[in-house]
Amino acid sequence: MRRKIIAGNWKMNKTPSEAVKLVEELKPLVKNDAVDVVFCVPAIDIVPVVKACEGTNIEVGAENMYFEESGAYTGEISPAMLVDAGVKYVILGHSERRDYFKETSEDINKKMKKAIEHGLVPIMCCGESLEQREQGITLDWIRQQVKVGYQGIAASDAAKTVIAYEPIWAIGTGKTATTEQAEEVCRAIRQCIAEIYDEATAEAIRIQYGGSVNAGNASELFAQPDIDGGLVGGASLKADFGKIVNY
Ligand code: PGA
Repeated sequence: MRRKIIAGNWKMNKTPSEAVKLVEELKPLVKNDAVDVVFCVPAIDIVPVVKACEGTNIEVGAENMYFEESGAYTGEISPAMLVDAGVKYVILGHSERRDYFKETSEDINKKMKKAIEHGLVPIMCCGESLEQREQGITLDWIRQQVKVGYQGIAASDAAKTVIAYEPIWAIGTGKTATTEQAEEVCRAIRQCIAEIYDEATAEAIRIQYGGSVNAGNASELFAQPDIDGGLVGGASLKADFGKIVNY
């Protein structure tokens, strides 16, 4: 049985002091030892949030990192910095990073390898645009993102990673994919992992759905056989996140 993983993606929200306040508010609401709970927060919030989460069931994640060890990369954050600060997870290849910051699947593959090398658990995002869905190329596109993202990664490492399927048209729009649409793509991703590796790896890897997950739709989505939790944006900044974690 795969353990569910429910992660909040705070995006570019909350100053350090606001972040600590939000953690204090959410702490009692997100208690659930049956699932993994992760708060992925802006880089500047990581240190105070890790401290605020001490002694709780909450793990902290970053929203991005760079694929080099150190050096002249102004403005970037290295995997060692994240690990030293107490971070366990890192979101890689979110559609907002692919779109606004021009990250390619090749960049994301480099980041995946670096994250794994440092013992971080990557949450690799993939997802199609509305045009791609209407064109009927959703599964081709997602398979390509997954295949490039996992290039050169060993099965034993891949098994420990997380993939988030996030249709771009459902992010922050209030438009959730139907349960059937979400399950169809998550199943196809698992199938793709089985093709790249083997059945055991496909069975082990956790696949989240993301895109307007809320307290009302979480339980139905998370009940699907291939959906192992969610990556939650807007609703992770509110008390609602407690309801999602305790779906
Ligand atoms: P949303 O964002 O829940 O606000 O749609 C999800 C995400 O981008 O991870």
